[in-house]
Amino acid sequence: MPCVTGSTGPVAVTGASGYVGSHVVRALMKRGYSVHACVTDPTNPHKTEHLSALNKAGLPGRLELFRANLLEQGSYDQPFSGCSGVLHVGTAMGYGGVNNPRQVYDGAVDGTRNVLESVKKAGGVRRFVYTSSFAAIGHPAPPGYVFNEKDWASDNRERDRNWNPEKIDENGEVAYAMAKLETEQLVNRTAEADGRFDAVSVCPLVVLGPLLSPVHELVGSWQWFLGRMLRGKPCKRGWQALWNIVDVRDVGESQALILESDACQNGSRYQLSATDESGELDVFQLQEHLQKLFPRIEVGGAPPEMDAYLEKYGKPYDAPRAHCDKARRELGLESHAILDTLRETGQTLIDLGLVEPALKELD
Ligand SMILES: NC(=O)c1ccc[n+]([C@@H]2O[C@H](COP(=O)([O-])OP(=O)(O)OC[C@H]3O[C@@H](n4cnc5c(N)ncnc54)[C@H](OP(=O)(O)O)[C@@H]3O)[C@@H](O)[C@H]2O)c1
Repeated sequence: MPCVTGSTGPVAVTGASGYVGSHVVRALMKRGYSVHACVTDPTNPHKTEHLSALNKAGLPGRLELFRANLLEQGSYDQPFSGCSGVLHVGTAMGYGGVNNPRQVYDGAVDGTRNVLESVKKAGGVRRFVYTSSFAAIGHPAPPGYVFNEKDWASDNRERDRNWNPEKIDENGEVAYAMAKLETEQLVNRTAEADGRFDAVSVCPLVVLGPLLSPVHELVGSWQWFLGRMLRGKPCKRGWQALWNIVDVRDVGESQALILESDACQNGSRYQLSATDESGELDVFQLQEHLQKLFPRIEVGGAPPEMDAYLEKYGKPYDAPRAHCDKARRELGLESHAILDTLRETGQTLIDLGLVEPALKELD
């Protein structure tokens, strides 16, 4: 399928108001696209002010807000009309317990089905970029195993009793991973059967980087946990293993690059993760970096449970290892350095008034 450019017509983004979606919109506008930014409520200024501000930021592209809901059939017919590309970012997330595991699963699968129906009706879409997750890649593997795009979350599950659709109602991780895997395969199958568009997926790992709006400090998100560390509180997510970090600006930029790339075909996927080992941090390394970047702040570190963990296992678990080599090689992604990502996350949390840092006592 011929690729998309700013001159092949507008492109639409679902979940445009979200943390990742806003950066996808911004990356497209930087390249001159006319963007149909789909949000559940265009009249809610908390969710849309930062998007409207992009129209005044001197970027070559423009955006227009559209109301659409993933759970309503036909909701995307209007926003996708005339579009040559669709970037499907939105999904019901489990942050802060607003959606239970079943709602996360059904929301992703049914919502994507609705989106794909609107893509088919629109007729002019050539490329469909789906924001999947590393959750659709990661599977049981020995420590140190380096994942890539050939891995699927369903690999090596023969002895995993939790990898079972019956667990979806009770296990949030299983619900999310199964939803992302099945949705990725659904978009590939649908695109192949339709023949008028290619579906390409991105699979981000721990997404951090600048927040464009206060609504992006979502309880339970990685950025929220980093903010807690700047408040002097212990790290409570992923402390047993590695934070394998990708910059949210790189997640946005990759999606714009995918629209325009000749290297992508239907079914291509790009793991968006650390550039190299510099972005694979255990909780001690994470705390050390943050402490150097924010010397006046008393940065939180490993939680009290770490002592017992270290006594049992000796060191944090060496996983997940994964690098965004394919995105850099095929798409030409120039990924951000880890210190820049951490600095921008922390600084925007502070500048937006979301985190009151735990300042050190002055001598
Ligand atoms: N953040 C990460 O670390 C990470 C890692 C891997 C993959 N991802 C993927 O990235 C995508 C965005 O995640 P995020 O972290 O940016 O979360 P987010 O900020 O919560 O964004 C989710 C978006 O989905 C939209 N949405 C939810 N329910 C909807 C519905 N019924 N109809 C229409 N839109 C709906 C929300 O729109 P409204 O605000 O308009 O309600 C919001 O814009 C997700 O697909 C997620 O799986 C994220």
